[in-house]
Amino acid sequence: DSLAQVSDGVPAPNRTQDRRQQVTAGPLTHFVNTPDTDPSLPGNREWGARIIGRIATSTLGTDLVAAHSVDDASAVDAIIDDTHAAGGAWGARPAAERAAVLRAAAVEFEKRRGELLEVAGSECGKTLDQSDPEVSEAIDFLNYYADLAEGLDTVDGATPQPVRLTLVVPPWNFPLAIPTGGIAAALAAGSAVIVKPAPQAARCGSVLVETLWAAGVPKDVLRLVHVPENEVGRALVASPKVDRLILTGAFDTAALFRTFRSDLPLLAETSGKNSIIVTPNADLDLAVKDLVNSAFGHAGQKCSAASLGILVGSVATSDRFRSQLVDAVESLKVGLPSDPATQMGPVIEPAGGKLLKALTILDEGESWLVEPRQLDDEGRLWSPGVKTGVKRGSEYHLTEYFGPVLGLIEAADLDEAIAIQNETDYGLTAGLHSLERTELETWIDRVEAGNAYINRTTVGAIVRRQPFGGWKKSAVGAGTKAGGPNYLVGLTDWAPREATQ
Ligand code: SER
Repeated sequence: DSLAQVSDGVPAPNRTQDRRQQVTAGPLTHFVNTPDTDPSLPGNREWGARIIGRIATSTLGTDLVAAHSVDDASAVDAIIDDTHAAGGAWGARPAAERAAVLRAAAVEFEKRRGELLEVAGSECGKTLDQSDPEVSEAIDFLNYYADLAEGLDTVDGATPQPVRLTLVVPPWNFPLAIPTGGIAAALAAGSAVIVKPAPQAARCGSVLVETLWAAGVPKDVLRLVHVPENEVGRALVASPKVDRLILTGAFDTAALFRTFRSDLPLLAETSGKNSIIVTPNADLDLAVKDLVNSAFGHAGQKCSAASLGILVGSVATSDRFRSQLVDAVESLKVGLPSDPATQMGPVIEPAGGKLLKALTILDEGESWLVEPRQLDDEGRLWSPGVKTGVKRGSEYHLTEYFGPVLGLIEAADLDEAIAIQNETDYGLTAGLHSLERTELETWIDRVEAGNAYINRTTVGAIVRRQPFGGWKKSAVGAGTKAGGPNYLVGLTDWAPREATQ
């Protein structure tokens, strides 16, 4: 009954599939993740300071796309035809060759780390602590999918065949890691790629594509296009020559795309409304830290962010917990990423609509523990807010906001907390803070989220260690997890071996 149930030849996400992905964690036993820049080293701090000095936020949010858009549908068709044709030769190359190109790209990304951080700061308002892990994740995607490509000829007794053309439609909130992940996966699987960056992250898209070309990805196999959101954009999505579409964005966007083409083979990671349960058996110091990071990292603009804390029993009335949380939130320094003191940056567009409402209006029973303040004229810079007294079933409980606001809701016991957590339409990430074994087991058995984290933040999934993707309205289409062992299979034509003999 929901789009999440629609299958594209690979089972829709469900508990069984998720568990199997964890158990048969692919042919790999060894994968080394790329480390982030270590700020404890003086040389790295100087390097970081130089990059921060080059971040130019005067262009923040400037729409550069209009001038570079492909603005008629026949031009889009020509690009689709050319790229589709180029996909044939790319897919015919041995997997080891494709993997070598991706590994060369990983080296190139490391070389250009500084440039990538600068553009993500200037264009998308990302502070270095948020963008540096994105570069590491992009490098991990390139190396990991290169490894997976080399194992693609034997997947559960079937032979995945490359498709010709994959369209990648990434979001603006992870302007480096998510586009790179989609592009790398499709290239590894043997498909040519057209990437359409989010308008708010157009320059990031250009830098990524140039970096991939510099590393040896043929220019006709990877194309960057900007299209307006009108019939031209629709032509791109609706083309029958698009074999796969990787989308990261709102659920409504996935639903809209399906109206353009009902048989669209979609791998979409969509919206979330994520929460962290804190029980009286938690390490409350750690819970405060993880709640703050999950709610306010990149000003809350993550599909994985937790915008709700579910406080069980005595935690809800604990003065110590409350005062630590308030102190931690009030200590966050808000500003532009060009200021080295900034810990929380701006929201991508002036707050409006539901976000403005969440930042300024209280519903029945709610009150501010920390009231958000608008710090600039435009409405991009907000001090972080915490509201308490959120009611079960209220708008705040069930809505995704993508901004710097955390709500607190009370639960009598763990049963009620889990019910509250699962009550949303989404199922992307979820957290539990508890040190009590029975509670952990009860929760892990019942939580309805693709990524369920214990005593950790809900953000920052690590490639290969924590494959990322959701349930319910958080995933549409093929639904295999990014950064996980089965992701490339969804980007191929996967026929049983008997049928191909
Ligand atoms: N992968 C990101 C995270 O885990 C979200 O897209 O935070």
